[in-house]
Order: sequence, then C-alpha cells, then structure tokens
Amino acid sequence: MCGIIGYSGVENSVPKLIEGLKALEYRGYDSAGIAVFTENGISVVKSKGRIANIEKILDTEYPNLESVCGIGHTRWATHGEPSDRNSHPHGTDRIRLVHNGIIENYIQLKKELSACGYSFESDTDTEIASKLIDLNYKTSGDPIKAIKSTVKKLEGSYALGIIFDKYPGKIFAARKDSPLIVALSENGNFIASDIPAVLKHTNRYYQLEQGEIAIVEKDKVTVYDEFGSVANKEVLTADWDVGSAEKGGYEHFMLKEINEEPLAIVNTIRPRIKDGLPCLDLPHLSDEAIKAFKRVSIVACGTAMHAGFIGRTAIETLARIPVKVEIASEFRYRNPILDKEDLVIIISQSGETADSLAALRLSKERGAHTLAIVNVAGSSIAREADSTLYTWAGPEIAVASTKAYTVQISLMYLIATKFALCNGRITKDKAKEYLHTLLTLSPVAVENALVLSAECAKISEKIKNAEHLFYIGRGIDYDIAQEASLKLKEISYIHSEAYAAGEMKHGTISLITDGVPVIAVCTQDHLVEKMISNIKEVKARGAFVLIICKENMQIDKEVADEVLKIPVLSDLFMPIPAMTVLQLVAYHTSVIRGCDVDKPRNLAKSVTVE
Ligand code: AGP
Repeated sequence: MCGIIGYSGVENSVPKLIEGLKALEYRGYDSAGIAVFTENGISVVKSKGRIANIEKILDTEYPNLESVCGIGHTRWATHGEPSDRNSHPHGTDRIRLVHNGIIENYIQLKKELSACGYSFESDTDTEIASKLIDLNYKTSGDPIKAIKSTVKKLEGSYALGIIFDKYPGKIFAARKDSPLIVALSENGNFIASDIPAVLKHTNRYYQLEQGEIAIVEKDKVTVYDEFGSVANKEVLTADWDVGSAEKGGYEHFMLKEINEEPLAIVNTIRPRIKDGLPCLDLPHLSDEAIKAFKRVSIVACGTAMHAGFIGRTAIETLARIPVKVEIASEFRYRNPILDKEDLVIIISQSGETADSLAALRLSKERGAHTLAIVNVAGSSIAREADSTLYTWAGPEIAVASTKAYTVQISLMYLIATKFALCNGRITKDKAKEYLHTLLTLSPVAVENALVLSAECAKISEKIKNAEHLFYIGRGIDYDIAQEASLKLKEISYIHSEAYAAGEMKHGTISLITDGVPVIAVCTQDHLVEKMISNIKEVKARGAFVLIICKENMQIDKEVADEVLKIPVLSDLFMPIPAMTVLQLVAYHTSVIRGCDVDKPRNLAKSVTVE
C-alpha cells in the first residue's frame, strides 16, 4: 500500500525523500511524488510509474532543487487510475498532503467542498482531505486547528503527512488505522510508513498512536494526544540493521529472504525453548488459561492464512483442540460466534493488514483471548492483541512472503507443542523430540532444500509457458499446495489452483488436458498410496506430472514426468523444507518469465485498506 516519507533537518531533503521512497517500494506502488519547501513556496514533483520517473524530472527540470524539509509518497491506486494527476502530494498552494488509507465519506465531503467553491483535479479521496484541510486552514490560520477539525470529519483510515506554506521546516502528521512512525536522528527528524525508509539514518523512532498529531521539526518533535495535551512518547529502537533491508549481493530480495529462512527459524524459536521445553513467556497465557480454551480460530489473509492451515493441522494433531482457519475479510462480516473459551490467533507479517486488525478488534469485543503472531515490532496488531509472539525474521521486503511464512509455521509448531503439553496430550520427552526437530533439524533441512535451487530452476523451465497449473496434495500436503499455488501466481502470473488431490475427480479434472502441469506434493507416508492413485488419474488424462516428495520415498518412474526429492523431517514438519523448495520454484519461474519478482504487478506488501 502507499508509502509515506517526510524529512525536516539540516541537510538537503530531496535525496533523502527519494531514498526513503525507494526503501518503501516493497509496499507496492504505481506512482510517486514529493513536495518540498523552496524560497518560492512549495514545489511539487509527481509522476505515474516508478520513482526513476521522479528522478528524471528532478534532473531535467529541477537540477538545483534543494530544501531542508519535505514530504514524499508512493501511491498504490485505490480511487482513480495510476496517473500524474492522481499522484500525491495533493492540495493547494497553501498546503500539500500525502495520505495512506481510504477516506470512506469522500463523496459527501466533496459535495460540501464544491459548495464552498472548491474544484478538483484528481479522482482521489486524498484530494478531498487536502482541500478540507485547506478550507479549515483558511478559516483558522492554524495548522493544528485545521487538522483537528478535518480529521473529526474523516471516516475511514489515514496516515497523513502535511506541510503548510507559512510553516517552513515543519511537517504535521496524524494517523488513524494506517501506520506512521516519527523517527529521530542527529541531523533531522522523519515521518515514515515503515522503519526501512529511515534505517540508513536512524533506528530510533516513536510509534504514532491513533488520534495523535505530531509536529516534526529539524531539532524537535512534539506529539499531541487526541485531547490536545503533549504526549509523553517512549522512544523505541528497531533492532534491524541497514544491511537487513538491502539485497546483500542477491539478485532479488525474495531470493535473499528465502536464503535467510534457516537463521530466521533459529532466531524465532531458540529464545522460546527452555530446558528443551516450550516457553512462550506470555503473562496472559498461563498453562491454566491454555487448558481452558475450548476452540481456536486462526484468522489472517493470504500467505499468513496459509500458515494458519499448517497451524490447524499441528494444533489438532498434537493438542486435539478444534481449530478453524478463517479469511479475515470474511470473518469480520460473518458475525462469528466467540466467547471467553475461544482463542483467536491473528497471523500477520506486517501487523497492519486492515482486515486482520478488524478481526482482532471484533474478537476482543466478543470476549475471546487474542494472540498475535507478527513480524513488525510495534505494529497495530502487535500492540492491540492480548498476547503477542513476534516472529524474528528481520524485515521482509519482497512483496511475496517467504521467510515470514516459514517462521509463522515454526511458531505454530511451537504453540501446538505447548498446548499439547498443557492438555496432557504428550509427554515432556515427546515435546522435547518435537522441539529438537523444530530448532535443530528443520534449519538444516531448509539449508539442504536451498541447495536444490538449480533443480527447482529446471522445474521452472518445464512450467514456464503454462497457462494453467494445478498443485495437488492431501492433508498437510494440501495446506502446502495452497501456499505454493499463491506464491507461483502472485509473482509469475501463471494461473494456478491448489486442489485437495481426492477432490479433483469431482469436477476439476475436466480441466486436465494434454500437457497441463500438475505439481503433486507428496510428503506424508500414510497418504502416499492415495496420492499415487490421484496422480495416476491426472496422468491418464494427459497431465505433465511433477512430484515433490521426500528423499526416502520410492516413486515408480512411470507415475511422474519429473520427481524432485527433498530433505526429510518427521511428516508433521515436512511443510518447512517443502515450502522452501516450492518458493524457489515460484521464484525461478518469475525470473525466467521476466517478471518483476520483488514488486509484482497490482500487489502491495502491507494491505492497509479493506
Ligand atoms: C504474500 O506473499 C502475500 N503478498 C500476501 O498474501 C500477504 O501474506 C497478506 O497480504 C497478508 O499480509 P500480512 O501478513 O502482512 O498480514
């Protein structure tokens, strides 16, 4: 989703804004722009397309543009097509504004503004917010009063960065339901949507809370709470270093992040094992509290929801508690039945996904205990949940989630083991065995899976021209198939579907014709024979079959066109190395097809609107 950056300091803001916007590219965008103070008022440069377009305009039309204060934006279109005129910043000669979020009542506000004589250049909801601020600023002459009376009328979500012509050197910021931080450095202060945008300069930051308004100046930051009093803010420190947000020699962030999986597992799991046993260290989730849960719901979106499928299988298998996995955007409008005997686990890499956040709030309202599994420290979901477990994967920049998924499922295994122990379903020795697999064997299995990268590229060669493709599996292999399919389609644009292998013959097998690739995930000993029958069914109808199976499985040559054998763990843990391999298949397919691997079309990293 949109990215915001702002800088007020002693150095030229223009390169800082451009560099900050580039660091936010991973969020997904289709246009960009900046607005900076100059001697002649506020200068705006904006364009459809990549940030390189802005750089070109700066080079040719504004070669000497220097300014110590400005704001910048990458836009992911919601209201109005990607175009120069719809790009941010919006506003008037008096004020310029950048916005992340959605103003839901913009049509009504537009009518009111039209009645006051305003006209509009863009199709955006953001322009309406900017003109409303302009109107209130014209009336009061006071930026804070103008912002306050504006946000009172805004319905929806927003993170705003605003500059006012008569207040050079000051950036005003406000937020509700969209992320925004204020970062502090020796040579000036920043606003940003996310930490990577400022990591080159500082790792110290404030999290702006709901309803707060900040004034950011070169040597001072003042934050007002929703009642207008000066807020006493805690300075947070991000433990991500600059290198972790750079490619470090890899061709793409996605490949780098897949290669970081073994370390991410260790970093996330090791601190949570004491004397070989799980230690969640969550004050509100005592062993007694865990025992009292009658049901678990896992609610999330996309890849994070697919991690929930693995969680369901792990928790139900080990702890024998019923688990439902729900799509957050459906859950929130489904009037879910929840009470204090329910645990709702919200999984989110970014911690800012609008639907997951809404699902969390709804679950709390209904009395369920909420447990967040989140990668970004201090994010909204992490702060609002009753209990939070961080995944310590480091920043994930590629839009396609890889290492975040791997650590999410690793935590699900840890939770399942903990719950099984609390419920008396497994012995301490058994728990130790599972955690040994998780902490010691699985990072090695992933290392060995990474070695198969060239083999994965060969599979990609075979499927690169496919129009349609199927992933099939049974049990936890079907859970894996669903994530593998999403990964492939989001970055290679090949249409793919994941199917429960036994379900194909109930309709979908009619789509199997000569040469249609079917990737069969086959890692479970007790299901392998059933899988082979299903594989034969598609093979008999012309499918080009690729089997992903364990190293120690014997697969009859005639059953498949290609077999890729992957490192072995005990069956329940096979999703860990299997997904690494399937992520690599998706990665190489995207590269071979010449797609933008890290920034696939139409997608955003952090989905902060419904
Ligand atoms: C992952 O590859 C996707 N781009 C996407 O499905 C993502 O997992 C989803 O939007 C949820 O994001 P979150 O984990 O930040 O909540």
